[in-house]
Amino acid sequence: MENPKDCTQATRTAAPRPAPTAEVREAALHAGWLDPAEQAAIVTDIRKVVEAAPLFSPLTPWGKPMSVRMTSAGKYGWYSDRKGYRYEGHHPCGTPWPPIPDRVLAIWRAFVSAERMPDCCLVNFYGPGSRMGLHQDRDEADFRWPVLSVSLGDDARFRIGGTDRSGPTESVWLRSGDVLVLGGAARLAYHGIDRVAPGTSTLLPKGGRINLTLRVVD
Ligand code: SIN
Ligand code: FE2
Repeated sequence: MENPKDCTQATRTAAPRPAPTAEVREAALHAGWLDPAEQAAIVTDIRKVVEAAPLFSPLTPWGKPMSVRMTSAGKYGWYSDRKGYRYEGHHPCGTPWPPIPDRVLAIWRAFVSAERMPDCCLVNFYGPGSRMGLHQDRDEADFRWPVLSVSLGDDARFRIGGTDRSGPTESVWLRSGDVLVLGGAARLAYHGIDRVAPGTSTLLPKGGRINLTLRVVD
């Protein structure tokens, strides 16, 4: 009979992780991971998610609507209002979140795990002037699981620091098809989007940027 140690080793030695094209303060960037046809197919999948679970602008706990519009797929969706940041089992309309598209889950399998799928795919849509202030992703139960981010559409200047809000930061442009993994020391790093550069991609006919983040929640 196998002992638990052997089981752990079997999991750890599973599929090798792709090597990043760059590291930005311990976050692993895989530039151009998705080719244009894969990007277009995922956009089609995300349109179906948005039809089932329309984009909305969450309120910050301070009562201001976020400039990024959001929705989610999966068991949980990320939500915010005056009561604070949290995950919810339903869209604000009361309907369950649609399933995470298979093509999106395949990216998670390639970088994170084939055994444990993410509970949430947060869909962020950045229109002209949208930005996202520096924050930590810390509404999840187990920070050993990374957050995996997929960029689609216009280029965005992503900023990342450490676990101290006032510490030094670095920025990198995220482009359509890039995958970024915030794991290990980067899992609780402060990060945000300074700005999106209009007209830098033709993927979305009306422009803008979609960012998907995959998370294990509970
Ligand atoms: C996020 O931190 O939720 C989004 C990051 C991004 O848009 O790249
Ligand atoms: Fe985040």
